[in-house]
Amino acid sequence: CGITGYIGDSDCSAIVAQSLKNLEYRGYDSAGVALLDDELHIHKQSGQIDDLTIPPMPDATCGIGHTRWSTHGAPTDANAHPHSDCTGQVAVVHNGIIDNYERFKRELREDHRFTSETDTEVIAHLIEDALDEGFSLRNAVENVVSMLEGSFAIAVTAVGFDGIIAARQDSPLVLGHGENENFLGSDVTAFVEYTQTVTFLEDGDLAHITADDVRITNGDTVVERDRQTVEWDADAAEKGGYEHYMRKEIHEQPHAVRQALSGRIDEFAGTVDLDLSLSDEYCKSIDEIQIIACGTSYYAGLYAAELLEQYADIRISVHIASEYEFRANRDPWRTLVIAVTQSGETADTLRALRKADGAGARTLAVTNTVGSTMAREADDTVYIRSGPEIGVAATKTFASQVITLALLTVYLGRQRNVLSSSEASTILNEVSEVPGAIQQVLDAESVVHETAKEFADSDAYFFIGRRFGYPVALEGALKLKEISYEHAEGFASGELKHGPLALVTENTPVLAILTEGTSADETLHNVKEVESRGAPAIGVSSETDPNPVFDTVFEVPKVGLMEPVVANVYLQLFAYHVASQKDRSIDKPRNLAKSVTVE
Ligand code: G6P
Repeated sequence: CGITGYIGDSDCSAIVAQSLKNLEYRGYDSAGVALLDDELHIHKQSGQIDDLTIPPMPDATCGIGHTRWSTHGAPTDANAHPHSDCTGQVAVVHNGIIDNYERFKRELREDHRFTSETDTEVIAHLIEDALDEGFSLRNAVENVVSMLEGSFAIAVTAVGFDGIIAARQDSPLVLGHGENENFLGSDVTAFVEYTQTVTFLEDGDLAHITADDVRITNGDTVVERDRQTVEWDADAAEKGGYEHYMRKEIHEQPHAVRQALSGRIDEFAGTVDLDLSLSDEYCKSIDEIQIIACGTSYYAGLYAAELLEQYADIRISVHIASEYEFRANRDPWRTLVIAVTQSGETADTLRALRKADGAGARTLAVTNTVGSTMAREADDTVYIRSGPEIGVAATKTFASQVITLALLTVYLGRQRNVLSSSEASTILNEVSEVPGAIQQVLDAESVVHETAKEFADSDAYFFIGRRFGYPVALEGALKLKEISYEHAEGFASGELKHGPLALVTENTPVLAILTEGTSADETLHNVKEVESRGAPAIGVSSETDPNPVFDTVFEVPKVGLMEPVVANVYLQLFAYHVASQKDRSIDKPRNLAKSVTVE
């Protein structure tokens, strides 16, 4: 979900509407705003933000807004936020889950009438009771928040109150500061066209925001949080002539990868500087690396595991964050736990990171989002520097994650004296050729477009690969299912014959990754197995003499062990064009959200 808020002299309803639009990628099954002049005006409904009519309100100076990704209660008009109390004087928007809401709802039911099935509505009614007892809105929210269990970010305003109260517990919130105006958002995209000066709230913070002041408390203490300047502007979050953010972001990959490399590598000396506080001694003492991540980031983690094992000589395990339990063979501090996360906010990954931290492991976040919770909580952070990614399906951040993790591999390999400078130079050379190689793939987009048209009516799609090709096969299938809603699966090539082959027919194309680092010759045997069952085969290959078994070959430029990440760009384009043939909602696929801050 996304939360926005504004208070100031400019056109409040237009600003809240715009920032809701900016946050649409965080959830889009319903939307709503509460605008305050002498009265509270709530407009909300299920469906897309564009369908929400927000009338101009020249006298409104304060407003909050919400775009929803349902957790409790279906996406109906009644369940859309903001929620109000019985008097209609209080408005609340909320991101996250209140674990103990049912108890409150049972207790409150005697005197309060509930109009939705959400956990959020209890907050409004609890605030109403506290106001009745004579508390100020600020103290009422503080009291209520102290009773709530779970993860949440909330924003509250009320009739007769100057400003917005915002509170954060395990769900992101950031303030934006302008001239006689202040903003609130789940992330900076909400208001980056208005101000780039921001304050990230921390867990337990409660902020009272007025047009010219922000007062933050944590418990009984007034706290000062640093103001920071975000480095990207609104243009970076615009579509820039592309029909969809996803296609724009696919095309931004050469630039994103260059950014990830910029100022960090010395190809000649074979060294990498990631500005980490890991000492030589610590790097040498690492016993094991555990990677935790979800979705696309998990696949980037699988890719990195191959690199780290090969070049940094460390035992690696990769964990789906929601399945993770920390276990260490020896001293927990000698286990380095790496959270790979574009947003830095995914609840499953955050929980896993905290488990590791609580057990005494050393933690490192690899993320795209400056100021995010995991960036702040991990012992060290490396930014992937992709710039904002708005399309719900992750694209450029996968490439940037893999490249950044390749740099980390070289860094650790060198520190541990297991990687020679010439081996390191070779890897860094390959890595720095990735932007050019991706550009060549992008230049061949028309071939992918034609192939996607040819196969858009298939029954299902299978992706196969070995070693570095395996995570790419999984990621290729994930992209296709996310945005086309078609059945797609990725398999380790060798596993095909152990079951999935039963699914293969003349109408199930098989896309095979055949590049450096993917044991291509062996995968070729598996391609022949599917071909002899009549399935069309598409090769994504850097072989100079691709095998004639293929219906189509997507040619991958030669960049050594980085070839699979370049091959992945073909799979992104394939998914994009299949989805486009089917006229799907590419940037906002049904049921999904970009940043999932609930477990
Ligand atoms: C959501 C998104 C995925 C993403 C995953 C992990 O499910 O829809 O695209 O890969 O979260 O997100 P993270 O921000 O932790 O990388």
